[in-house]
Amino acid sequence: MLLEEDILEIRKKFPILNKKVYSNPLVYIDNAATTQKPSQVIEASKKYYSSINSNIHRGVHFLSQRATHQFENVREKIQKFIHAKHYSEIIFTKGTTESINLVASCIGPLLNKKDEIILSCIEHHSNIVPWQILSNKIGIILKVVQINENGLLDLKNFKSIISEKTKLVSISHISNVLGIINPIKQIIDLSHKYGALVLIDGAQAISNFNIDMQDLNVDFYVFSAHKMYGPTGIGVLYGKKEILENFDPYQSGGEMIENVSFKKNTTYSKLPFKFEAGTPNIEGVIVWDAAIDFVTEIGVSNIQCYKDKLVKYATKRLESIDGIKLYGNDNKKSSIISFNLKDFHPFDIGSILDRLGIAVRTGHLCAQPLMDFFRVTGMIRASFSIYNTFEEIDYLFESIIKARNIINKYNL
Ligand code: ALA
Repeated sequence: MLLEEDILEIRKKFPILNKKVYSNPLVYIDNAATTQKPSQVIEASKKYYSSINSNIHRGVHFLSQRATHQFENVREKIQKFIHAKHYSEIIFTKGTTESINLVASCIGPLLNKKDEIILSCIEHHSNIVPWQILSNKIGIILKVVQINENGLLDLKNFKSIISEKTKLVSISHISNVLGIINPIKQIIDLSHKYGALVLIDGAQAISNFNIDMQDLNVDFYVFSAHKMYGPTGIGVLYGKKEILENFDPYQSGGEMIENVSFKKNTTYSKLPFKFEAGTPNIEGVIVWDAAIDFVTEIGVSNIQCYKDKLVKYATKRLESIDGIKLYGNDNKKSSIISFNLKDFHPFDIGSILDRLGIAVRTGHLCAQPLMDFFRVTGMIRASFSIYNTFEEIDYLFESIIKARNIINKYNL
């Protein structure tokens, strides 16, 4: 369990938290968008460029071999971190979005017109649009699981739309808007009964839970480094080996080939390289290593436990504000709270919070169908991380009230 003094020590590792924004101390609570980086991650980036920068998998020279070794070590570390069975099941991508696009692009040729894919109405656009494009291309049918007013997936509705025609179910582990933790184990087991594959968007879950691919028995799980204190532009597609082996390549070029010829068929590399065409984000992978160390040193369950306390405290404080509407109501919620204030535009409140030093996200939060469900055009989202404090939540509470008073006073 983390004590207050542990959190203060952790905060010291994040140089950006000393920053002032418009003369106010920065209160960074936009962690669902991206997390800040601890010194060890910042240092790792500097070290990479000052000591081993080179291309990987293709050099006999010292630097290339060292970089290759480190790069592949991180793959192994991620395999262990998510308890995947095989090293070759970890495919490096640009991030969660590219991982989903990879699956959509590769699964397309294996589907037939009228096959069905199930999504939910809470999905991030990155888990909607790739499937819509696929649907337009080959005529597959998209079905959408509904939620109740509290934001919980309607499992009855899910059971009523899944059938033998369902080939894939693609659902987020944690909603990036509501923070609701979806019952993914139940969804995976049920989907498998109908022979459907399951993709879980783990973007918001990766730094919250000990995730176990073998226990979940999930077919694809996707996530990004930057949501877990690592760099942007790098993420993972975990996919079961036997499924990925059956996919044709996603992109083509160097790295993903075994033999290229004009005389006979070009052949492809084995997994994972078959899906990693071109020079990868070498720095991103190697620096991610330091972020994984940061998370494991603190302990994923300690992080989760502390963030649970923050979100419970924030919920209690915020729900006492007159005219506030919090979206997504469940005892088990991750560290995200989205809300609106009656008669106030989220952008106006967000802009004043910014002037007071508080970084929140406002707008449709890349989830327009969910905004439609709640009949709003946008929300204000506060999302917490390991370095946030209860005092910052008090400051958020006071600042929301202040923002409202400012707008009222000046009739903005
Ligand atoms: N997916 C990120 C968010 O929800 C960018 O803000």
